[in-house]
Amino acid sequence: MSVHAEVLRRTGGRDVKSIVFDEAALAARVRELGAAITAAYPDGELLVLGLLKGSFIFLSDLVRCVERPLQIDFIVASSYGRGTISSGEVKLLYDPETKLEGKHILLVEDIVDSGNTMRRLLALLAGRRPKSLAICALLDKAEKHGPFPDLKFIGFEAPPAFLVGYGLDHAEDFRHLPFIADLM
Ligand code: IMP
Ligand code: MG
Repeated sequence: MSVHAEVLRRTGGRDVKSIVFDEAALAARVRELGAAITAAYPDGELLVLGLLKGSFIFLSDLVRCVERPLQIDFIVASSYGRGTISSGEVKLLYDPETKLEGKHILLVEDIVDSGNTMRRLLALLAGRRPKSLAICALLDKAEKHGPFPDLKFIGFEAPPAFLVGYGLDHAEDFRHLPFIADLM
């Protein structure tokens, strides 16, 4: 079956332009990120904090590649905006139940675009007095934002396209695709 036929079957008729990162490329890079995270946090409590919903597949693959103790929680933030342009405002809809104080916090995100979402979340979480605060993003549209020292772990630099699959959505569709594709 061609890639397009498989996509159409999974999406009910909405096609993508091309596959940008296939399953093998994602799995290989996630293993490398897991090893880097294992090496980066030799001691202390590590809390992996996934930003829902986009990070759910990436996070579940990533934590299985981290070979040290860790805990997992999630945050739900809602950005006000329409279409594929992300806006500056972020609202927290679910607050982590786990205590953040004194822990290494690793925020896991699907894609960093302008960086506004992550900057606002970092500012908010810094107030909880964690031991350290860093970001792991599967994808980074690096040319869209300036220097970002807290963005410590990056899977891939993203091409200037709208990407879907492996957790990333367009209007809630396409999240379940096992690869990352660019939209028509
Ligand atoms: P930022 O606040 O501008 O960095 O936008 C980040 C958020 O925008 C991510 O959490 C995604 O939800 C969304 N986003 C940005 N680019 C893409 C894309 O190419 N595909 C899917 N979602 C995207
Ligand atoms: Mg999204």
